[in-house]
Amino acid sequence: MSISGTFRQMCAVALTALLCGGNVAGAAPPIHSQSGSGETASQPASPLKLRLPILAVMTGVINRASYPIFEAATSGRDLHDDEWLGIGQNAIDLVGAASLITLPGTGQADAAWVADPNWLKLSADMQTASIAVGLAAANKDRAAMTESASRLAQSCQSCHIQFSARLLTAPPN
Ligand code: HEC
Repeated sequence: MSISGTFRQMCAVALTALLCGGNVAGAAPPIHSQSGSGETASQPASPLKLRLPILAVMTGVINRASYPIFEAATSGRDLHDDEWLGIGQNAIDLVGAASLITLPGTGQADAAWVADPNWLKLSADMQTASIAVGLAAANKDRAAMTESASRLAQSCQSCHIQFSARLLTAPPN
């Protein structure tokens, strides 16, 4: 299988996992289930902290991953297979990033943001729209992609309006 064929297949698997919310590849045992007397055994297993300000996730992953989606959605041109694949991969980044921004990172305002139910709702809106973009890309469905990309843009804008007076005058998108 060609490299791009392999990537396409991986992307399809990742998107199926999104849909099913589960482990499509089977039941690989989690690493920490290997109990034993090794040096990690005394450490409680816990999720990693977000060791960045939420704003860094925003300007890093979220802005970078959403740009090609918005560009493709508004371009009107036909999208070739590699572009659909790229959109699917960027959508997956956004699905993950939406969860990340619900964790308080190292930014000054982070704890207050994630404690606000509106923040969580808008993060969920962003995630739901990103999943829809990913599925539209997997199906190469132009109309569904346009519709979900516009919902995605709406989620960005709604949150910036509610949480950043500074961005009101200069929204990033
Ligand atoms: C749950 C809320 C929320 C969502 C959803 C959200 N953002 Fe943000 N974003 C913020 C906040 C709050 C800031 C501003 C932080 C500040 O004032 O320093 C920000 C800042 C940014 C910045 C930095 C702008 C600058 O000039 O510093 C970019 C770029 C950005 N967001 C892009 C996006 C994009 C693109 C999306 C949607 C795909 C998105 N954001 C979704 C809350 C959100």
